[in-house]
Order: sequence, then structure tokens, then C-alpha cells
Amino acid sequence: MVDAAPLPRRTIAIISHPDAGKSTLTEALALHADAISEAGAVHGKGHRRATVSDWMEMEKARGISISSAALQFEYRGHLINLVDTPGHADFSEDTYRVLSAVDSAVMLVDAARGLEPQTLKLFQVCAQRGLPVLTVINKWDRPGLDALELLDEIEREIGLTPTPLTWPVGIAGVFEGVLDRRSGELVRYTRTAGGATRAPEEHVRPEDARAHLRDHAGPMAAEAWDEAAEADALLRADGADHDLDSYLAAVTTPVLFASALLNFAVAQLLDTLVDLAPAPQPTPDVDGRLRATDADFSALVFKVQSGMDAAHRDRLAYARICSGTFERGMSVTHAATKRAFSTKYAQVVFGRERTSVERAYPGDIIGLVNARSLRVGDTIYTGQPVSYPPIATFAPEHFATATVTDASRWKQFRRGIEQLDQEGVVQVLRSEARGDHAPVLAAVGPMQFEVAAARMSDEYGAPVRLESLAYTVARRVPADQVDAVAGLRDVEVLHRADGSALALFMDRWRLQSVQRQHPELILEALPAGA
Ligand code: G4P
Repeated sequence: MVDAAPLPRRTIAIISHPDAGKSTLTEALALHADAISEAGAVHGKGHRRATVSDWMEMEKARGISISSAALQFEYRGHLINLVDTPGHADFSEDTYRVLSAVDSAVMLVDAARGLEPQTLKLFQVCAQRGLPVLTVINKWDRPGLDALELLDEIEREIGLTPTPLTWPVGIAGVFEGVLDRRSGELVRYTRTAGGATRAPEEHVRPEDARAHLRDHAGPMAAEAWDEAAEADALLRADGADHDLDSYLAAVTTPVLFASALLNFAVAQLLDTLVDLAPAPQPTPDVDGRLRATDADFSALVFKVQSGMDAAHRDRLAYARICSGTFERGMSVTHAATKRAFSTKYAQVVFGRERTSVERAYPGDIIGLVNARSLRVGDTIYTGQPVSYPPIATFAPEHFATATVTDASRWKQFRRGIEQLDQEGVVQVLRSEARGDHAPVLAAVGPMQFEVAAARMSDEYGAPVRLESLAYTVARRVPADQVDAVAGLRDVEVLHRADGSALALFMDRWRLQSVQRQHPELILEALPAGA
């Protein structure tokens, strides 16, 4: 039997600051498309339904989504994989790692707040990876900043040239519709009760737009059209028109104006993803050789999570398919150990509700159950061997020692700490001076400590005492300089499980003074979050 060709894929993540509207937009996207499976990408807030992925008690109490999940839906003959970036004020490494699993990002900006810190941090990771970024200015139904001001801010802060695909008709708070800059048409939206259903759209030819607005929305709206047309001409003169190659090369960022809450411009976003966002591309391996998407199966593990289901202490490894076709039950090779690995229990849906996946293609995210040997950054494959570059670990900024509170639980403590290190829940640092009983946990955001402490007591029955250390900056130290750095005042050198050494400094000033006094020392900054 010959299978029908798989639908083309678009694998994306939304990057934003908390409250910019990511959950609202995610729901709106799923509403417009045919959601095939629904996962925990949407977190429970207010009246909205609770997420299915809030698997920890702590998570429920806070109403946030700690675990990454993915949502897959079909739109215009394409399958869109929306990989969730856990979005709360505190960062964890998970948020960054998700960006290793996508082909492009949607940067969601609150029209009243402009670019905010978390968005900028996430953008830096996109920039490092060369990911194309599409910008959505959200909440245009509410008073906000001036549209041109927002574009200036984007250009200034992130260095991408904004190329608006649409221009709002009406200032923020008076959202009459948009001028589609490529067709010249007016696109008008109609409010529906609570934005609960797909907002009807009306397309009006450019020559009729002004009269249409005057007749249906009054003279102010007709004036707003004139202003939008002026802005359009200005942008054109400025060279701010969309260019596909520049977007794909991460030089420009196409911009849409939207209201996720009212479902305005959500269909345009979906159309843009289908028309412009990149499909999965050949993936470079550790040696820089490209593995074509139609080569033998291969996938990159970007997240490992355990204890999702209290009834079954399982461990899920999430992998993004880079090449070939995945078929459930197929035996794959784990590149790190060269061992065979059965995929009998692969799943597509994350969170509590899961369904088995029979077949998946490049760009899709699969969850592998009880994949005990798989770690973040690992490659699995069939046929021609391949190893993808490891996922960068990020510079920790928070440090705490962990000790077991009940000495009789020492064995469980040791096992738990090792497990959390492997999963990348926290980084674990050790030194001879501190000994095995008080390893140092290092994190990008302090919430990682809470997750670690909760898991140590719930899963391993080994409650821990955490004591913060006053360090805030970490630098990598080459092996032959460890002794020299360790001898410095106020600097501590610790080792990761992989043997690499990190020097910890109280703050940037101490680091700078060490660099000034010892220019011969190589203190290497770690990627993002540093
Ligand atoms: P997040 O996931 O990025 O944190 O944001 P979320 O979607 O939860 O949205 C944050 C708040 O912003 C919510 O209000 C939401 O209703 C509102 N919001 C999102 N998109 C829009 C929009 O396009 N226009 C307007 N006017 N508001 C928007 P809330 O009051 O905090 O929560 P809720 O009780 O409404 O759920």
C-alpha cells in the first residue's frame, strides 16, 4: 500500500513576556485550525480551562505551565506544530531548549508594553540559532503605543528590520481593521461575543475601502484609512516591505497587528505561517554535514521529563524529528551509546492525555516513554549513523547547596540529584572541598530550585535543604587553568558531571577585576542567559 504524502510541516514556538497573550493566542490559533490534538500549551487562567500538562501540584497552585508541551493542528493542508515555551516571569533552561526544536519563532509583543525583558532574552536565543522571527503586535484593541514607535523599538532593541505585512486602521484601542500591505485591501474584522468563535473577516478592495469605512464605521474610520495609506507609502519609501529571503535569513521580521482576545488577524497569522515560515530544513550534524529531511530517520532529544503521571512513575523524552519517517515500534539507535532502543510506546500528546503516535515526520515532536537512557541533546537514528550537536547549556545565575534533611535517605538523595542533573532540571556542580554531601545546584532561574526540591521530596523521598550562595556569574575555565583560578580570592571553581570546570563570581565587577589583573586567564562566557 502506498501512503499519501505527509502534509508539509511548520514547527514554531511563540516567544513572549508573561501576560502578552500567548495562551490566548494559542487558543485562538487552535480555534481557527482543526486541532488534531490538544495538549498543555494553554495554561489555566481566569475562566479558561486548566492545562492538561500541569502535572505538579506546585504548578497547579501557581496556575503556570512548567512543562513544555506541543500542540499540533492542521491548517490549509499544512500541519502546524506549536511547541510551547513555558512562560512565567522566572526562567528555566527548558524555555531555551524548546527553541532547539523549532524552525522559526513568533515574537508576541503587547502593544502597550512593547518589548519586555523575557521576550528579549528569548529573542537572543533565536538570534544565536539564526531562527527566522515573525512579529505579532497583540492587544491592538486596547490603548497602546504608536505603531511606528513600536517598529522603531523593535529595530533598536533587536536589530531586525521590521517589515509590516499589515498596517492597523485606527490607533491602538480603535481597531477598525488592517490594510493588507501586499494586496492593498482593507481587512475588516467583526467582533463576536467574547471572541469565542472565529471572527468573520471582510476583504474590501483598495479603491472601495475609504467609502466602505465611512459608510459602515463613520468619518473617523475613513480618516484612519487615509492615515494607514500614508503610513504604508512611508514604509514603502523606507524600504520596509517584506522580502522572503531577508526574513528567512533572520535579517528582517515581518509584522502583523492582532487582537488574540477578539480573534482579529489570527487567520492572517496562520496564513503567514503557511506561506512564509520555513519548512523543516536539512539538519547539520556535529561535523557540519547536512542530513536531508528525506534521509533515514533521526531525531534530537530536547527535553526529558519524569513524574508526569503520579500513578506511573514514567519518564518521557521529547524528541524533534530531523529526518526520515518515524514509525511506532521501530528500533532506533541511541547515538551516545550505540545501543538499540525500542519505540513501542511513542506518543504525540503530552500532558496527562496521551495518544500513541503511529507515524511522524520531520518537524514533529514525539514523546518516548520510559526512555531511561535518553538525555537532553542526544540523537537517535536508524540507518546511516548521525549525531547532532549538543544543545548548549546556559549560564546559570543562581546557586544553592543541597543537603539531605534525613541522613537515612542519603542513597535516594544521591540518585535523585543525579537524575535531576541528567534531565537538566538543574545543573549539578561539585568540588572536592564541598564533598558529595553538599553538591551545588545551579540554575538559570530560581524556580528551577523549587522544582528540584519538590521532585526530590515527592519522587525520591529525600527532602532537601537548599542554601543560596552569593554567586551570580559563572565562567568556563580550561582544565589547565583550574588551579590558577581556584587560588583567587572570592572565586570558587566547581565541576560539572561532564568534567568541565566553572568558576563562580559574586558579580560582574569581581569578574572584571580578575580579568584586568590576570589577562592570561581564559574565562569563557556561556551562551544565552549569561
Ligand atoms: P500569557 O499566556 O502570555 O501570560 O497571557 P494570557 O494569554 O494569559 O493573557 C494575559 C491577559 O491579557 C489576559 O487577561 C488576556 O485575556 C489578555 N489578553 C490577551 N490577548 C489580548 C488581546 O488581544 N486584547 C486584550 N484586550 N487582552 C488580551 P487577564 O485578565 O489577565 O486574564 P483572563 O482572566 O482574561 O484570562
